[in-house]
Amino acid sequence: MGSSRAWLWPYVRAERAALALVLALAIASSALAALPPWLSKRIIDEGLIAQRLPVLIRLCALMVAVAAAGFLIGAVNRWAYVRASGRILFSLREAVYAHLIRLAPEFFRARPVGDLVTRLDGDVAEVQRFSTDTLLAFVNGSLTLVLAGALMVALSPRLALIAAAMLPLQLLVRHRTRHWVADATRAVREQTSEVAQFFVETLGAVRTVQAAAAESWEQARLTALNASLLRRITRQQLIGYGVGGVSALLSHVGTALVFVAGGVMVIHGSLTVGTLVAFTAYMARGTGSATSLLGLYTAWQRAAVSLARVRELMEVRGDSAAGAGGATPPSRGLVEFTEVTCRRTGLARPLFENLSLTLPPGSKTVLYGDSGSGKSTLVDLLRRFAPLESGSIWLDGVGVGEWHVATLRRRVCVLEAEPVLFRGTIAHNLRYGNFDAPEEAVLNAARRAGVDRFVLRLERGYQTHLGGPGYGLSTGQRQRIAIARALLSEPSVLVLDEATGNLDAASAQAMHALIDEHFPHCTRLVITHAPERVPGAARVLELREGRLHEHAPIQVAHG
Ligand SMILES: Nc1ncnc2c1ncn2[C@@H]1O[C@H](COP(=O)(O)OP(=O)(O)O)[C@@H](O)[C@H]1O
Ligand SMILES: [Mg+2]
Repeated sequence: MGSSRAWLWPYVRAERAALALVLALAIASSALAALPPWLSKRIIDEGLIAQRLPVLIRLCALMVAVAAAGFLIGAVNRWAYVRASGRILFSLREAVYAHLIRLAPEFFRARPVGDLVTRLDGDVAEVQRFSTDTLLAFVNGSLTLVLAGALMVALSPRLALIAAAMLPLQLLVRHRTRHWVADATRAVREQTSEVAQFFVETLGAVRTVQAAAAESWEQARLTALNASLLRRITRQQLIGYGVGGVSALLSHVGTALVFVAGGVMVIHGSLTVGTLVAFTAYMARGTGSATSLLGLYTAWQRAAVSLARVRELMEVRGDSAAGAGGATPPSRGLVEFTEVTCRRTGLARPLFENLSLTLPPGSKTVLYGDSGSGKSTLVDLLRRFAPLESGSIWLDGVGVGEWHVATLRRRVCVLEAEPVLFRGTIAHNLRYGNFDAPEEAVLNAARRAGVDRFVLRLERGYQTHLGGPGYGLSTGQRQRIAIARALLSEPSVLVLDEATGNLDAASAQAMHALIDEHFPHCTRLVITHAPERVPGAARVLELREGRLHEHAPIQVAHG
């Protein structure tokens, strides 16, 4: 576990000044909190028993002042703490997110979004809380313990020894139960991921749920998931309570022993009542902090579960986005596949073996084949969304591995059946094609793609907010936004991967016309289930059983 804590350290260290302040204030408030029992001893022995009223009043006033100072210190402390821990939490979360967002698509295929969200949200918070709080609780608890312990020893060494006798036993209890705590915690975290995934899945596809009239079915699934979560939480809580409870019980035994021994000493006259009262007050404080220090041990077992879950994400290696650098020659759009072999996990045979293909600059090719034959995979390989096993793929004579990955992906633009739009304005969504494009270029692209036609009818035009993934726009309208994005990214290769699949015949025709009008110099690859509907293709290829078969270009029937 050493390395996992080391990974955390820089984030905590960045806030060391604020944490030091928090710590100093915590120390000050512990010191203040140590005063009242001492004061009450003096109130009893010097004020009450000695019957001196002025002393009594002065000591009581002092007690109020101590409480007021404690309140002020506590307020500043809380403020500094919230800011420091918030910054640690958010920088941790940003680091994990920055890592995730760069991982290869394969990773996300195998990983439910709900699980990722739970780790980013709950587990990172768990880790932060532990790292910050432990640090403070540890220092604070040790300080209180040392202070209370010293005072206890000063008051009566013999009683102090009795009071400390239970500590080793308590530690043993914590240590023996550490695996139970970790297992129960892991079970809770995993089920929390399941529930989050359920929400992401069903709310993200609410139309499918409603179309299948599966509302009650899904409701029942949630109830079952929750029942299981409740069982796990109950188990975790009971284990936590049991461990803490046994530990507390032992400390009560210690307290009882002190009272018995202290009582004997008072009866024999070797201890004053005031001293015994003060001693037990310090002992309450001391055993309190000892218990919370021991509790940290258990808390660490829990936090380690979350830390492992976050670490697991951080250890997934991404596609090293490094390439030959950003500077690339102006692209012509020459695509060459030579002897490419691709295997997919879970498939018995390679998707294709020794596949070769050349798309000359500015050409238009139609590609069809059964679904699952690997058409999209070809494009993924070209854009480095899938790892290349053997063979080579070139764009303009440069191996795709040599390209700066971001440049490569702008050069090869893909339009898919359901363009993804993000929350935000239409203007923001258009910019996804090129974040550096000037306002004018964005509007120009939108006009050319026919986005104008429907946006200008909207009350707020390009500033219209899209609620969710393209909510409120038809597929055809979203497709036009995707075309405008493509115009902005100025590709040299444009792939339509079943882009017209969800459009009616007329819209599909319009889309093909728009593409041919605005991207005449691009190398165009049209992947489709209906090759007979694609106009103007020089070549027609079929991908069947891992091989490309050339067909005669089809005469497109109009009308
Ligand atoms: N990222 C991936 N990891 C593993 N297998 C994948 C991945 N993407 C696609 N596949 C599998 O590869 C095969 C080809 O998929 P795909 O290229 O999408 O086919 P097509 O586009 O021709 O319908 C399918 O069996 C699919 O399940
Ligand atoms: Mg496909």
